[in-house]
Amino acid sequence: MAARDNRQVNTKVIAVSDSAALAKAAAERVMARIAANGDRIAICLTGGSSPKQLYRLLASDFYRSQIPWDRVHWFVGDERFVPADDPLNNMGMARLAFLDRCAPAANVHPIPTDTANPEQAARRYQSELQSFYGANGLDSARPLFDVVLMGVGPDGHTASLFPDYPAIEETERWVVGVPKAHVEPFVPRVTLTLPALNSCREMLFEVSGSEKRAILTRVLEGENLPANRARSIGETIWLAETAALPEDFSGR
Ligand code: 6PG
Repeated sequence: MAARDNRQVNTKVIAVSDSAALAKAAAERVMARIAANGDRIAICLTGGSSPKQLYRLLASDFYRSQIPWDRVHWFVGDERFVPADDPLNNMGMARLAFLDRCAPAANVHPIPTDTANPEQAARRYQSELQSFYGANGLDSARPLFDVVLMGVGPDGHTASLFPDYPAIEETERWVVGVPKAHVEPFVPRVTLTLPALNSCREMLFEVSGSEKRAILTRVLEGENLPANRARSIGETIWLAETAALPEDFSGR
């Protein structure tokens, strides 16, 4: 495993050999954040394909037996506006991969998709987050989440914050509706905004596969992309498979 500091303060890139090592390294970081908080823990999950292996690993006996499930609450950073049981639903994927077998139902907090439209879903989820947090304003001394998991899309989006869309500029609201996606799947989305996502002790990006090399190179060059504007007020970690990193990564 090779690690180096990125240009940004409190941002680190960690290279791992393959997808199994990626899932294991991510699981270890999540476990460390859980262990560091003896109180109620909030973890914000992500969709896409990259976190699936991590989710399955958390349900394996080794990790499952160490997680204080009663104290851990599971949220999601963005959702595709499709029914909860649609294969495209992000929380649906996480439920199938691990939550339904491990977490108390009351600790699973999906973004609703049975509302009239994504905007209404966003308002409802914002209320749920604010009541969980116990305030309508975020205090940097008390982050909303312990861990926020993230992925990066081919256009540099993260969560459902797409380049040049208004949602990326939101500074007040915690959750917004996104009527049209910029990349597949082309379904409306609901996404947490930067103020909400960044309010965490650790933001953990998982990046796998050589098809991510082009976008990860742009991210590491510091280009103004949503994935570069998502920054934890604590620590931001980019966990990347070697195949996804620029060829000269270790030499820099
Ligand atoms: C979604 C996501 C999205 C995802 C990235 C990376 O709903 O699609 O939350 O932001 O994390 O697109 O996706 P992959 O892991 O599939 O590459």
